[in-house]
Amino acid sequence: MAQWVVTAPPTDDLDGTRLFPVVLDASTPFGRCVVVDLALANAAAPEAILACLCREERTLAEGMRGARVITFAGGRVAARRAKERTPAFGTPTLMEPNGAPTAVTGVAVSISHSRYYATALAAVGPGWDVGVDIEALDDEGPEDLLAERILSDAERAADQACDPIPILLRLSLKEAAYKALFPQVGHTPLRCIGVTRRPGNALGYAVTVEGSEVSVIANATQFWDHVLSTAVAK
Ligand SMILES: CC(C)(COP(=O)(O)OP(=O)(O)OC[C@H]1O[C@@H](n2cnc3c(N)ncnc32)[C@H](O)[C@@H]1OP(=O)(O)O)[C@@H](O)C(=O)NCCC(=O)NCCS
Repeated sequence: MAQWVVTAPPTDDLDGTRLFPVVLDASTPFGRCVVVDLALANAAAPEAILACLCREERTLAEGMRGARVITFAGGRVAARRAKERTPAFGTPTLMEPNGAPTAVTGVAVSISHSRYYATALAAVGPGWDVGVDIEALDDEGPEDLLAERILSDAERAADQACDPIPILLRLSLKEAAYKALFPQVGHTPLRCIGVTRRPGNALGYAVTVEGSEVSVIANATQFWDHVLSTAVAK
């Protein structure tokens, strides 16, 4: 059977959410988090996807091909929705030379995507930097290799002392914390971002950053067959 191809966006798809339907729109302690589904866009023609972007965003997408255009556009559509009701409402989500989304008028934005979803987290607040990460549970590669790359000795010890944190959950929390930290401390190897359970039954995770005083809080939730993590650095 021939595959359906969306050749043009519906004429009233002004914010792109017809092609990238919103599947989660949540106020979190760290900002507004929006997740959009990439399935329709995966079957769409490139011009339909580009039509969901504003002019400045389209310029950034020039030269991107295939799945990259879809994840890039999905992230922008999610960011547009997440920035509603903030002073950055209606502004394009541009990109710093290092790849991080540009903060506008004090509104911090973070983006992440899997093959199936794109997500954005936006927060207003002086001194707040945010991070979001989404990981598909079926993307899990060899656990021992990943553990080798991202776990510190302290995390291994903490895992032996109490209920271990699954490696993909830890990766996601670390990636969200990495993005929240980046504007303040620059590149931080994931092994230097420590994620452990909080004492007692406290919610959330304790995040420490080797050699830095920046305070980071992170949280994670299971979202269908994904882990969705959010973080804020102050
Ligand atoms: C930048 C990084 C966090 C992106 O994470 P990822 O899992 O590859 O991809 P995600 O889909 O979660 O995130 C991609 C988004 O991150 C954002 N991003 C890129 N660089 C960034 C940075 N320096 N700071 C904050 N956000 C950044 C972008 O918005 C990008 O989406 P876009 O290009 O469509 O706008 C990751 O590549 C990285 O460098 N990780 C830390 C380095 C490390 O130690 N890696 C070892 C892993 S085992």
